Amino acid sequence: MQPSSDTRPRRTFAVISHPDAGKSTLTEALALHAEMLSEAGAVHGKAGRRGTVSDWMEMERARGISISSAALQFAFRDHVVNLVDTPGHADFSEDTYRVLTAVDSAVMLVDAAKGLEPQTLKLFRVCAQRRIPVLTVVNKWDRPGLEPLALMDEIQQQIGLDPTPLTWPVGLAGDFRGVLDRRSGEFVRYTRTAGGATKAPEERMDPAAAAAREGDAWATAVEEHELLAADGAEHDQELFLAGATTPVLFASALLNFGVGRLLDTLLELAPAPGPTLDAQGSPRQPGDDFSAYVFKVQAGMDAAHRDRLAYARVCSGTFERGMVVRHAATGRPFATKYAQAVFGRERSSVDVAEPGDIIGLVNAAALRVGDTIYDGSPVEYPPIASFPPEHFASVRAADSGRHKQFRRGIEQLDQEGVVQVLRSELRGDQAPVLAAVGPMQFEVVVARMAAEYKCPVRLDHLDYTLARRVPADQAEALAGKRGVEVMRRSDGALLALFPDRWRVSSVQRELPDLRLEELGVDQ
Ligand code: G4P
Repeated sequence: MQPSSDTRPRRTFAVISHPDAGKSTLTEALALHAEMLSEAGAVHGKAGRRGTVSDWMEMERARGISISSAALQFAFRDHVVNLVDTPGHADFSEDTYRVLTAVDSAVMLVDAAKGLEPQTLKLFRVCAQRRIPVLTVVNKWDRPGLEPLALMDEIQQQIGLDPTPLTWPVGLAGDFRGVLDRRSGEFVRYTRTAGGATKAPEERMDPAAAAAREGDAWATAVEEHELLAADGAEHDQELFLAGATTPVLFASALLNFGVGRLLDTLLELAPAPGPTLDAQGSPRQPGDDFSAYVFKVQAGMDAAHRDRLAYARVCSGTFERGMVVRHAATGRPFATKYAQAVFGRERSSVDVAEPGDIIGLVNAAALRVGDTIYDGSPVEYPPIASFPPEHFASVRAADSGRHKQFRRGIEQLDQEGVVQVLRSELRGDQAPVLAAVGPMQFEVVVARMAAEYKCPVRLDHLDYTLARRVPADQAEALAGKRGVEVMRRSDGALLALFPDRWRVSSVQRELPDLRLEELGVDQ
């Protein structure tokens, strides 16, 4: 049967948060609201990520939802929503950042008691650099936390976006009664359900009824809402899309309060997939011939199954299972039939994919992070950026007799974007330095070097925590400086490695003409 296209509008987003802010709980609550699940607890993967994935597979079979470890897809009010997973716990890595190249918007999930935390800030910066509009959800309002106005100040000061709350909490953190809908002025009252396992009933009341029912809590909410209004904290779609403001919602993912509103807001405000700029800067429109780019490659860590799964975001056209597409980097055809069939054992529901959707391609040995695949008129998207590394380790073959395998493996893992590889004459070719965003990337190198290249390696962690780009004509000036090392990345960039910020400042004071450049995204 010829698969037909599914032209329902798409919303493709990721949740950015610090561990424990409630991302898994929110994911479950979203799926519950999309009426894909009868009980949110069914996918609670407390036992760890693997548990979540296998639970999802079960869910997929039972309810026909298309899920992979990279994206959760569900239908909501005649839209298709793709929630792209940001692996972001112990396994924080470049992949965490890269998935943000595959989304059109982000939901910044903030713990009401903790405010903005380091990992959230890091991910936010990537969104800002990529001009991804950010919605904010203040979570765990059912638990004691900060004052809501103080939280707004913190957002404004720490990330520079003007918060424009769409809802405002009625009741202090820890006494979450409902929200004031700032557009209609109504009170939306929430009612707890046992364990938050089903949708929380909502009741709308006019201000007079709310005042009579909630007394001081309502009066405080109204007062604060008026303060916000006087301050001009109102939603403006253009400013939101331009990355100047962030709409804010208050929620309790655990109790399912405010979660339906988040979905409605995503449908209403978050951008639909738009044109994608190719390597020359020309836009490829969603309605053009099929194209997609690979933002994540997962190699089977299990030595017996050396399959590689490539996750690609569809940028234009319709992907149909079985289609033969072209791999832009090599010009070779790439058959998706076999690939999808293998993967398809678990996910036969994915016959077509539209712009904004995520497809998983199995046995995609030729595909690397940043690669483009297309059909019809050729296109190549720019390579995916590398991100500022914070962890460094020198690596060498455990058995020096296996130097050839060592070189080949390290080169391959570098090209795949598993880690960045830095070299210098001083360290020689047998002991390059690996640079990573998260230490888990090193574990992947160790496992894959042993399993795939039959070359066990030894790692020595280095004390550096940051890198600065240094112009080629100035690298000499750093020679012999204590605690600083200059190395060449495989793209040719010269990076100076420092143990900490203070060392950067002291070197900068000593050498005022030295032009050290911070590594942002794309550098
Ligand atoms: P993460 O994926 O961002 O790391 O967070 P996760 O959802 O695993 O949530 C971390 C903890 O915070 C969990 O508690 C979870 O139940 C709790 N939590 C999430 N959202 C809310 C909320 O809206 N209100 C309250 N009160 N708690 C919330 P835990 O004790 O670690 O696990 P569990 O034993 O409760 O499952």
